[in-house]
Amino acid sequence: MPPLSFVDLQPSAGSFLEDVFSGLGVSPKALSPKYFYDALGSRLFEAICELPEYYPTRTELALTRDRAGEIAAAVGAGKLLIEFGSGAGIKTGLLLGALRPAAYVPVDIAADALKASAGRLAAEFPDLPVIAVCADYMQPLDLPLDGIAAPRLIYFPGSTIGNLTPAEALLFLQRARALAGSGGAMLVGVDLKKDPQRLHDAYNDAQGVTAEFNLNLLRRINRELAADFDLDRFRHVAFYNAVAGRIEMHLESVCAQTVTVSGRSFAFAAGERLHTENSCKYSVAEFQRLARSAGYDAEAVWVDAEELFSLHLLRG
Ligand code: AVJ
Repeated sequence: MPPLSFVDLQPSAGSFLEDVFSGLGVSPKALSPKYFYDALGSRLFEAICELPEYYPTRTELALTRDRAGEIAAAVGAGKLLIEFGSGAGIKTGLLLGALRPAAYVPVDIAADALKASAGRLAAEFPDLPVIAVCADYMQPLDLPLDGIAAPRLIYFPGSTIGNLTPAEALLFLQRARALAGSGGAMLVGVDLKKDPQRLHDAYNDAQGVTAEFNLNLLRRINRELAADFDLDRFRHVAFYNAVAGRIEMHLESVCAQTVTVSGRSFAFAAGERLHTENSCKYSVAEFQRLARSAGYDAEAVWVDAEELFSLHLLRG
């Protein structure tokens, strides 16, 4: 097997336009956060991860580093490691060193970020077969893994599972459990419920990087879908919805306006919002309950000393 291969299962470009048409055509307007991650969006997200207010990335990284030995002991060596949303792949380097998997399959929708991080990790671990798959892992996946017999570990870091509502997360966990198969397991990073002010600040940073990240979605639609969003006429809105247990991000129209996307017009009232992201937060008990309803055993959980972030090992 070649040390590094690349498989493109990306949805067709047409589905972005269809999703934008349907998301702007309903009330309330909404778009999937998966569209944040064009090349600039991926870079802006990496900048978010460095912000003083944005605790999840550095907390999960430290937790993974501090507990890598315990995690590896619980998981066992020689697994087929499938990673969803590999992004920049810094945490993964730590885990690959400790876990010593049989093969590594990063899956990400952001082609540029995926190629860069898979290349870097393949160079760092020259004996490890790496199969990078560009795909939307939130949808059912048919991965090209028939030749690899090792038991599977699905690694889903970053609390990206928070982008799904609990009902969606349940379906997603059930599908992941089927993909992991018999003897399979899942290691998933989940942001914890905490002081709402701390959550609010993490998505309303003083430098405005999160606002740029949110607004970049409109810039991407302008470029890729021949649209005319005026970025000065929308503002970033993020708040903690305590009832739903989630941060919500929206883009709010500052005036009444009409926007054209590939020849189709969409009206925005003054103050109307386009919902761009949910980031659900779970207590340890809440997430374990969700995992159990998806059919998993909640085998272990690691939490940092400040109780900001959790890493769950689920056995399916
Ligand atoms: C990558 C989805 C986990 O929800 O915290 C960061 C994305 N959005 N700041 C999150 C994000 C705004 C992030 N996830």
